[in-house]
Amino acid sequence: MCGIVAAVSTRDIVPVLLEGLRRLEYRGYDSAGIAVLEPVDAKSELRRLRAAGRVAELAGQVQAQGLAAYTGISHTRWATHGAPTERNAHPHVSGGLAVVHNGIIENHEEIRARLKAAGSVFTSDTDSEVIAHLVAFNRKSSVSLLSAATQAVAELEGAFAIALLCESDPEAVVLARKGAPLLIGLGEGENFSASDVSALVQVTRRVIYLEEGDCAELRPGSVRIVDARGTEVERPVHVSEMTAQAVELGPYQHYMQKEISEQPGAVAATLETVIGAQSLQPGLFGADAEALFKDVSSVQIIACGTSYHAGMVARYWLESIARIPTSVEIASEYRYRDSVPDPTGLFVTISQSGETADTLAALEHARTLGYRATLTICNVPESSLIRQSRLRFLTRAGPEIGVASTKAFTTQLAALFLLTLVLARLRGKLDRHAEATYLQALRHLPAALQHVLAAEEKVAAWAKDFASRQHALFLGRGIHYPIALEGALKLKEISYIHAEAYAAGELKHGPLALVDQDMPVVAIAPSDTLLEKLKSNLQEVRARGGRLYVFADRDAPIGDEEEAVRIIKLTDHAGPLSPILHVLPLQQLAYHVALVRGTDVDKPRNLAKSVTVE
Ligand code: AGP
Repeated sequence: MCGIVAAVSTRDIVPVLLEGLRRLEYRGYDSAGIAVLEPVDAKSELRRLRAAGRVAELAGQVQAQGLAAYTGISHTRWATHGAPTERNAHPHVSGGLAVVHNGIIENHEEIRARLKAAGSVFTSDTDSEVIAHLVAFNRKSSVSLLSAATQAVAELEGAFAIALLCESDPEAVVLARKGAPLLIGLGEGENFSASDVSALVQVTRRVIYLEEGDCAELRPGSVRIVDARGTEVERPVHVSEMTAQAVELGPYQHYMQKEISEQPGAVAATLETVIGAQSLQPGLFGADAEALFKDVSSVQIIACGTSYHAGMVARYWLESIARIPTSVEIASEYRYRDSVPDPTGLFVTISQSGETADTLAALEHARTLGYRATLTICNVPESSLIRQSRLRFLTRAGPEIGVASTKAFTTQLAALFLLTLVLARLRGKLDRHAEATYLQALRHLPAALQHVLAAEEKVAAWAKDFASRQHALFLGRGIHYPIALEGALKLKEISYIHAEAYAAGELKHGPLALVDQDMPVVAIAPSDTLLEKLKSNLQEVRARGGRLYVFADRDAPIGDEEEAVRIIKLTDHAGPLSPILHVLPLQQLAYHVALVRGTDVDKPRNLAKSVTVE
């Protein structure tokens, strides 16, 4: 989604803004813009450049115009209100004031009508432009830009992160945050702001996360923060662990390729604290975890997209190993459904970014339904979900830049397996021997993942068959059904091939009608108790001339390859951990199909990495 980078310094900050925008490209966007206060004689003049397209185009304009300044704001926009055109790109201006905005202003129509009547002239179709005119209007009667902004923010409904600057106070950038992430980066004689820390690792790792309702004023030598009640406050300074190297591409062609290959290390890092342990402690999930977990009667899991698929896998583990009733639901549905809550249950949200608007709203909804035990599994420390949940588990995947989630998914699964074991033990469903066996399997997991990755060449060879197809089916059974869903999601997301996944037993209840010699059918076929059932389903496909692509375990008793049946054998069957292994070749398949089709692998059209609007 949209990204903000802002800076105020005593040196030229234009290169910092552009580099920050480049580092936020992964979030997904369709236009970009910059506004700076350029010193002209003894005054400052607002200059704005915008491009409908990539940051590289904006950078070209900046270079051609020779833009240089000490104070500036910049933005990548993911269109919501108004087409992705230059006139709708941020920053929006009102006189000598400019603003960039992430989120949605829900009451923009009424504010726009009022300001228009008062003489403001609107030049875009966006909801965001009202902020520029509203702050400019307030500025006429307020003592400072900060107070004009706080007054405006009090009127805005919706979710937003805002950065603004004004010719009347050329050494200041003003910020506001409500429902969308925004942080301050602290420098020496300069200060910055951005939507996430990856945009600033080039200049600082010392950051302050603004809290809900905060407004702030940045100057080269000072930072002032006021909370929602207007009281001046101090917020803690964090030193981010993110390094510039962690967000660099290195020898890889794409971030997705890098992130697929990082999975053994990411899973090992996520499991680090338990790998040497004899037994698992609930404290892994937070200080109160034991007390809260002890009496939970059920588990309700809420997430979106790939994180939802992780939740679906976890349901199989939680019910079969911990014997606890578990439901999994898509956040955007749950938040509006009149459900029957179990307030004595554990409410789990899963999110790579920790900023997904629907998941955050579902968590808030759960609180109103009476849930006390809330747990978030997330990859971003200090994210909104982490801060708003009572218990938390941080996956340690490192920054995930590719829009298609890969290492975040496998680390979520590792975390959810730990949760299963902890709940199973507390509920008396796991004896010492079983716990030791599972821990041993977890220790072996990074090596097994490495082994599975080695099949890449064979997977890449299949990609050519898929690249010319319009459709594909993915089949799995039991705990591998969510893996089939994830494989289909990966393929459609980055190759734009229409892909659907089914629990293989459902095939004959409808989707079989789609199968002919032009339909590639991918089957996830581990050596588990459902393999024989799955093989019968595959025969149904073969009998209709369908082309089968089967991912099996090393010693799977599965027939020989023939022209229309291709098989890749991965590694030894991993028991309940098998889904974590079987998703890897599906990620590789999607990646290689996208390569052949020449799509924008890391930034697929219309998608955003962090979905901060509803
Ligand atoms: C996965 O490849 C997606 N890009 C998407 O489905 C993602 O998983 C979803 O938007 C949820 O995001 P979150 O994990 O950050 O909450």
